[in-house]
Amino acid sequence: MIALLMFTFISGNAQTNQKAMGQLIDRQFKLAQEQYYLLAKNTPADRMPKTFYPIKDSSESSDTKWWCSGFFPGALLYIYEYTKDPATLSEAKRRLAILEKEKHYTGNHDLGFMMFCSFGNAYRILKDPAYKPTIDTAAASLITRYKPNAKVIQSWNSGNRWVGPVIIDNMMNLELLLWVAQNGGDNNLKQISLNHADITIQNHFRKDYGTYHVVDYNMNTGEVVKKATWQGDADESTWARGQAWALYGYTMMYRFTKDNRYLNQAKQIAQFILKHPSLPADRVPYWDFDAKDIPNALRDASAAAIMASALLELGQYTNKKEREQYVSEARTMLQTLSGSEYTAKPGTNGGFLLKHSVGALPLKSEIDVPLTYADYYYLEALLRYKNWYL
Ligand code: GLY
Repeated sequence: MIALLMFTFISGNAQTNQKAMGQLIDRQFKLAQEQYYLLAKNTPADRMPKTFYPIKDSSESSDTKWWCSGFFPGALLYIYEYTKDPATLSEAKRRLAILEKEKHYTGNHDLGFMMFCSFGNAYRILKDPAYKPTIDTAAASLITRYKPNAKVIQSWNSGNRWVGPVIIDNMMNLELLLWVAQNGGDNNLKQISLNHADITIQNHFRKDYGTYHVVDYNMNTGEVVKKATWQGDADESTWARGQAWALYGYTMMYRFTKDNRYLNQAKQIAQFILKHPSLPADRVPYWDFDAKDIPNALRDASAAAIMASALLELGQYTNKKEREQYVSEARTMLQTLSGSEYTAKPGTNGGFLLKHSVGALPLKSEIDVPLTYADYYYLEALLRYKNWYL
């Protein structure tokens, strides 16, 4: 009898939780639709939104070569996927049109972020074959940066500071290559992705599965020249968004390959994050897990959004006990991001949805501001929650 009462109580609570999440998702997408009308209005027609500075009340836009140029059309497509709002779709199509030329860009490794978060979603949601050649061309552009002796894709060009830099963020760009390989492309794209992911496992992780941001290679020999940071607090610290990219990247690698080494890597990265003593109870990380001024350090909403989305996918590939942990942690992240501390009031924040992200604190750039990728991965996580767990 007591067991039956306990079961009824727990399943009743679970139902309440699910109902609340359904309402939260609905509310946030309606808000996103309104905010993104404003964001579009604030952004010149031939540019992409970059950020907004609340203190100066001023918006900043970027050209389409900026690494974030795919997130605005991508977020519009996620909003459209949920709301089916025709004006949102028209805006997405207008921004895709100005981005399309970047399929030929080879100036850095960011083609996956730029062209797959945008055109990949357009092809998936709108089922329009006209988008496919753009994605294929972007993949061909990205692999021009592959260095066969080192078996990695070089992230940034060589210069005074770096010889052959690869940053952990680069794991995210492999999704473009794996998807094209799986959809009629050359198998070489898959082999390049596997090589890059394997070398990254060897060199980017510490024993505790915390990540180095940058590994600098001699691209002729594959020798590691140095391990360092660019956007983190210190060379030996773990930059929160880098750790989020790693979690998302290896979860995505398992999606395409079903190789348990990648699944295990993703689970270890997840445990680093979730068991870390500096992860706050509300689950939005400080911008760096080792930031010197914790607990007064800034939080990074973008890292939380990426982590939430990745944990929800990881939960698809694990047993029930692990899934419950990942989904529960992701839910807490999403609930925190959906509260008044992080979600903008209607008509504010320059039209962005989330507040309080950190772009590159050591470079004194985009500190405690809204960012397109925080919104993009947050919306993706809400959709994943709705599609997989409601
Ligand atoms: N370099 C991409 C990022 O800031 O996460």
